[in-house]
Amino acid sequence: MSDHAAWTFLHVNDSHLGTPRSYRFRPAINRRWAAIKQQIAAEPAELLLHGGDLTRDGDTHEFEYQQAREDLDSLPMPVHIIPGNMDVGNKHAHVNGVKDRWDPQGLGWHDPDLNMTAERLNLFASYFGPIHWTFTYRDVRFTGFYAAVAGTGLPQEQRLWRLLERLPQLPSVRHHVAVMHYWPFMEQPDEPAWDLTRGDQYDNWYFSIDPPHRQRLWGLLRQAGVGWLFCGHVHTGRPAQCVDGIQVLRTPAAGNTAQLAERWADADTRFGYQRCRVSAETIDVEFVAGNDQCAEFGTFGPLGHPPVEERDYSVATEQPPLEPQ
Ligand SMILES: [Fe+2]
Ligand SMILES: [Fe+2]
Repeated sequence: MSDHAAWTFLHVNDSHLGTPRSYRFRPAINRRWAAIKQQIAAEPAELLLHGGDLTRDGDTHEFEYQQAREDLDSLPMPVHIIPGNMDVGNKHAHVNGVKDRWDPQGLGWHDPDLNMTAERLNLFASYFGPIHWTFTYRDVRFTGFYAAVAGTGLPQEQRLWRLLERLPQLPSVRHHVAVMHYWPFMEQPDEPAWDLTRGDQYDNWYFSIDPPHRQRLWGLLRQAGVGWLFCGHVHTGRPAQCVDGIQVLRTPAAGNTAQLAERWADADTRFGYQRCRVSAETIDVEFVAGNDQCAEFGTFGPLGHPPVEERDYSVATEQPPLEPQ
């Protein structure tokens, strides 16, 4: 078969596999993902991209890395993985001059406590491989990275910029596909920096990449000739948006519930994955709905990001409960 014969790869994000050994569990998410995984396994696809948030609370339960690893290993095709914030911690909240705790929306957590660490990123990588990567397959370049490291000052941030800056020098290919978890921006690259201490801007801050990193990232993706950019994290699908020649694909989740969906009349709140058909001319991306769109059932424990000291593992319905790290 020539390298330019049509072929298929898949993309999925936010499968959030959880466990009843946790202080919180949503069996509906596991059930929705189980159906999607079965559909993916039956696809004639040559590889799968996972755009992050493999786990419910991988950031504090190493057990969930092991569980997600074994779950993905059961698929018949190679899987290329980047982390999400529930796996390794959030993008950093910079709070210069703000000493007191604030909580504009009554969320119950303090964002700087959720900042990702180098240690957790390394632990994730020990299960799933490097968090930033690029490779070519059949004349298509695939580049995956955890853009939320931007602004952390961690070694993983240096590695991100070095990789992105090298992309234009790498052998040229027919198409370039990138995967990054967070949305690069809510609506447009030149929108302002969002203020996490303001209740009306918190969600925008939480879901997107901050300036000036956003603009630097965007410029590098343009220089690298990226044509398709997958981002999840919000769990809500939106129509593809073409910006500067890049198709921004904000994809629905493979199990976890849509957020902010009330903002957009055309938001897609279904669970599913993307089937991507590659030809010499283009890549056609099609959403495939999961066969089990079950409603929430049997949920226990809090949502959001409860502080470790407030978690009650005695509610776990399977023994022994996990121990937070
Ligand atoms: Fe998620
Ligand atoms: Fe996320």
